[in-house]
Amino acid sequence: MSRLAACCCLAWLLLLRPGNVSGAITPGAVWFDNRGQQIQAHGGGILKVDDTFFWFGEDRSQGLDPNKRYVSCYASKDLEHWTFRDQVLKLSDPENFGPGWLIERPKVFYNAATKKYVLYAHVDDGTYKLARVGIAISDTVDGNYRYLKSFRPLGLESRDIGQFIDDDGTAYLIFESRPTKGFVIARLSPDYLNVEKQMSLVPAPLEGGAVVHYKGLYYVIGSHLTGWSPNPNVYATATSLEGPWTEFKNIAPPALKTYNSQSSTLLRIIGTKTTSVIFMADQWKPKELWDSRYLWMPLQIDGGQLLLPEPRPWTIDINTGEAKY
Ligand code: GAL
Repeated sequence: MSRLAACCCLAWLLLLRPGNVSGAITPGAVWFDNRGQQIQAHGGGILKVDDTFFWFGEDRSQGLDPNKRYVSCYASKDLEHWTFRDQVLKLSDPENFGPGWLIERPKVFYNAATKKYVLYAHVDDGTYKLARVGIAISDTVDGNYRYLKSFRPLGLESRDIGQFIDDDGTAYLIFESRPTKGFVIARLSPDYLNVEKQMSLVPAPLEGGAVVHYKGLYYVIGSHLTGWSPNPNVYATATSLEGPWTEFKNIAPPALKTYNSQSSTLLRIIGTKTTSVIFMADQWKPKELWDSRYLWMPLQIDGGQLLLPEPRPWTIDINTGEAKY
């Protein structure tokens, strides 16, 4: 083989390598933690504590105790290198939900008044009929979380959940609710152990709800109700969390079905030079959930317009807030 051919081969092998491109965040690749294990934080959310991002999500690893459900937590200072902290929730069926019971889309809030970390998740039976949120609390961010209770927020069915913390620190739960066919944005109670007040019923049958506040506008993103299958995710904006919300528009060319992903979280990085908003989504593999991938991309967002660019490796400077791809 000529030297040139050998070089080409090597380049191809590097390109085909399943892992992250070194020095970048690579949507859709296998992402490894500090132990060299595939990151298990599906349907996840991020909580920033001081200068550290904590990523919580469903742990769908193979070989786990089939009677238990797990939430894992990873820590990073740069959003690229993730250290496994723990399976912060390892729960046996806490309320006789029954076979196939589930915990999905965990999100953690920090309550400064009670100094407790409060984990919200969708809890359900195997047929998704219970439609409740479960709550677990911890004194430390990385566990262990103690299961407290489940309930239907505001008495409503609640399946996919999302979290939003406004600039004044107020915490909100976003939840998809049927038969109202909308998602609800609702304020948590002062101790975060309840959902207290409906701000908006966004009138669209959407799930995977996420909200960000950017340059005076609230942007809400959601996915249509197609289960594990991807669909064109959409967004709307409002000047207040109480609405009114604009019509929904696609975040990417609809035929591409959000580049085979489903929304989970919108993360805002406020830097010294600029603010970036990152779309965090799951590329589900329903038959091999442990191998589901993550699609994270900085959004093009301004003046009420939002676009998810075609996924490619990207970098972010957490200090300046600048994202490049
Ligand atoms: C999706 C939902 C996922 C999971 C899945 C099960 O619609 O966003 O979190 O519940 O359905 O089919």
